Amino acid sequence: MNPLNHIAIIMDGNGRWGLKHKNSRNSGHKAGLNTVEKIIKETIKNKIKFLTLYAFSTENWKRTQSEVAGLMKLFRRYIERETKALFKDGVRVRFIGDRQKLDDKLVSLMDNLELYTSGNDKVHLTIALNYGGRDEVTRAVQRLAFEVEQGRLSHKDVDAETLAKFLDTRFLPDPDLVIRTSGEARISNFLLWQIAYAEMYFTDVLWPDFKKEDFIEALDDYQKRERRFGKIN
Ligand code: FPP
Repeated sequence: MNPLNHIAIIMDGNGRWGLKHKNSRNSGHKAGLNTVEKIIKETIKNKIKFLTLYAFSTENWKRTQSEVAGLMKLFRRYIERETKALFKDGVRVRFIGDRQKLDDKLVSLMDNLELYTSGNDKVHLTIALNYGGRDEVTRAVQRLAFEVEQGRLSHKDVDAETLAKFLDTRFLPDPDLVIRTSGEARISNFLLWQIAYAEMYFTDVLWPDFKKEDFIEALDDYQKRERRFGKIN
């Protein structure tokens, strides 16, 4: 058995799903939220400790104003509606990404949800919101450079482990498995540093159509992989 501690998901295909159902792209995002709820439950059932979801990238601001506003509203509503249920289900929620560009109301809901669920340990849900891998590494290096500038750290002590401590994901183990839905086979700036040895799983299913069975198929496929981490087995 390959240990499976952390799954990271690029939830792609919402927009196309909305259009396919003769509706708006935002209706696809709404439908995608139902899949989020199902997959959190499946993660708990399968005793997988860490789940990370890519909800909004640093590049997603380039979408139309109405789509961006629709997504932000959906995030606010989701947090308002789900805080108590997430707490009850033992989910510890944390966010990664740059909060500076997000509106104050959303940031305060995010802070509150993190605090409210901070005692939970059944499953660790991380939501990447205004997240970009390059942006994360850049912000980490900025903070690290500041420590060197202040004389608290020597450049000689900077190694991979030190840098990882400055990343948004410092509290997370690296993902074992990355799932991307909707037929695209790319990383789109997601967890660039952390997925060095992750197994990649791509499926054509659009995120709102991604069901329990599709999730289990991804887990089964992962078990067939031979993980070597650069070694010869
Ligand atoms: C990518 O599909 C999806 C997004 C940019 C948004 C993801 C958000 C959700 C699933 C809803 C809320 C999630 C949480 C965790 C609260 P796309 O729009 O790029 O699809 P397309 O490739 O068909 O255009």
